[in-house]
Amino acid sequence: MPYLMRTPAVEELPALSALCFRSKAVWDYDNDFMEACRRELSFDPLELQSTSIVVAEEHGRIVGVAQVKVVGKEADLLKLFVEPTVLRGGVGRALFVWACGRAAAMGADKLMIEGDPQAPPFYRRMGAEDCGFVPSGSIAGRLLPKLVRDLRECEVRAASSVVG
Ligand SMILES: CC(C)(COP(=O)(O)OP(=O)(O)OC[C@H]1O[C@@H](n2cnc3c(N)ncnc32)[C@H](O)[C@@H]1OP(=O)(O)O)[C@@H](O)C(=O)NCCC(=O)NCCS
Repeated sequence: MPYLMRTPAVEELPALSALCFRSKAVWDYDNDFMEACRRELSFDPLELQSTSIVVAEEHGRIVGVAQVKVVGKEADLLKLFVEPTVLRGGVGRALFVWACGRAAAMGADKLMIEGDPQAPPFYRRMGAEDCGFVPSGSIAGRLLPKLVRDLRECEVRAASSVVG
């Protein structure tokens, strides 16, 4: 399914933060855990300048969001969240392809991912490789899996198809 990929407007950021929260909750975390993650799942308007953010739209409805930050040759995947009602429908792949394309177009040769512990099977399917663990920014003592996607042979067409 081809999704419309576009940059969100600043007024849409609260709804996108809510989407991230709903999406993270699919892994059945309790309320305290989810609240501890809320800040990390939210967008600040300044991030529209300091990072690249995209939404995937289907029939005029936002079904996912991704955010990357590129510093030199390295990119970080800061967010990748799919609306729970459309999981396993290809939105995650479309967002990941966009993230790789955008990062490569901005000069990065690798995309670093600090994922939810439930997400590595998806990222491995997208060609990423495991490269250790990092401390969670939200929960003291929690470790998150770290993965890396080599971008040197990445297609950049996805990035150039973004509108807005
Ligand atoms: C992880 C996530 C982004 C995947 O998005 P999605 O739209 O469901 O994934 P897609 O439908 O595009 O799947 C792409 C491929 O990955 C596979 N895949 C997706 N989720 C998977 C999972 N949990 N386990 C194993 N494989 C998975 C699909 O089967 C598909 O494989 P195929 O190429 O053989 O058909 C989505 O589950 C999500 O948003 N989860 C909650 C939030 C989250 O944890 N985000 C990641 C933060 S690090």
